[in-house]
Amino acid sequence: MQTLLKLLGDGEFHSGEDLGLALGVSRTAVWKKLQQIQNELGIEFHKVRGRGYRLASPLSLLDARALNIEHARLGWKCKVHEIIDSTNAEALRLIQTQVTLPALVVAEQQTAGRGRRGRQWVSPFAQNLYYSIALRLDGGMRRLDGLSLLVGLAVVDTVQDLGVTSAGLKWPNDILVGPKKLAGVLLELTGDPADVCHVVIGIGLNINMRESDGVGQAWTSMSLELGRVLDRNEVICALSHKLSSYLAGHQRDGFTAYRQGWESKHVWQGLMVTLSTGAESIEGHVLGVGVDGALRLMVDGREEHFSGGEVSLRLAGD
Ligand code: BTN
Repeated sequence: MQTLLKLLGDGEFHSGEDLGLALGVSRTAVWKKLQQIQNELGIEFHKVRGRGYRLASPLSLLDARALNIEHARLGWKCKVHEIIDSTNAEALRLIQTQVTLPALVVAEQQTAGRGRRGRQWVSPFAQNLYYSIALRLDGGMRRLDGLSLLVGLAVVDTVQDLGVTSAGLKWPNDILVGPKKLAGVLLELTGDPADVCHVVIGIGLNINMRESDGVGQAWTSMSLELGRVLDRNEVICALSHKLSSYLAGHQRDGFTAYRQGWESKHVWQGLMVTLSTGAESIEGHVLGVGVDGALRLMVDGREEHFSGGEVSLRLAGD
């Protein structure tokens, strides 16, 4: 399927005969494969008599070779999957097999993409970024301070560099454009938090998605914001370079050096919010974040700090 999609990836018409020749199959087999792609992956084609087949809308496929070369420069292993349950789940499995780390897992599609708080992450084929990096953390929990916020900052800085200048952060690590979600971050830990542990940093970023029924909240994509289709390989490489540099800074100096930058991109900085932790709801004024990544709220005239996990935040009165 991948080869056929690559051939059609230029967005031009290709005759059934040419496609069949390139794949070494008959014109009927080409047609059957296209039907299969349409049914299984939801990718639409136009068929025009005398011209052949063309993708209904342009597609940016992952280029495993180029991604491997680029990530080798960062000292990262990179594994590209066509279809996987979840890149986070795969990165956790890789840690168990003791591969060299850091190891990056990306995929065209996830069948069981997971979001924060047990939610599903909608992951259609060849549309978005499904990206998980497995890292070893020597020195235990302290190394985790502010890490998930740092990752959100790397994502927002990357998408801003690529033109989505109105993107911002919502504590702890949602990336929004106005009220619409553009990207999310899910960190999963394994090992001994007091000693050597491993973390998987999972990032889902809507790149070229233009429609979806399954997302249970307001959302947008880079393509909707910029009015063009983006090369997903370029987005991945830009993100990895940013993340690699921020992770090195975080390892050296912790979150302190990134804290101000993070607050400057916090869309709810200075506003009244309601924080929900299970049954409890707390209203407060957002002061900023601590060096440990905790949210600093002014609650009834007293500064209080709240850490991530199973908490959610909304604007007061919403
Ligand atoms: C959120 O709920 O905001 C976090 C979403 C994280 C989704 C990404 S997609 C790549 C990686 N693999 C997963 O299964 N989840 C994360």
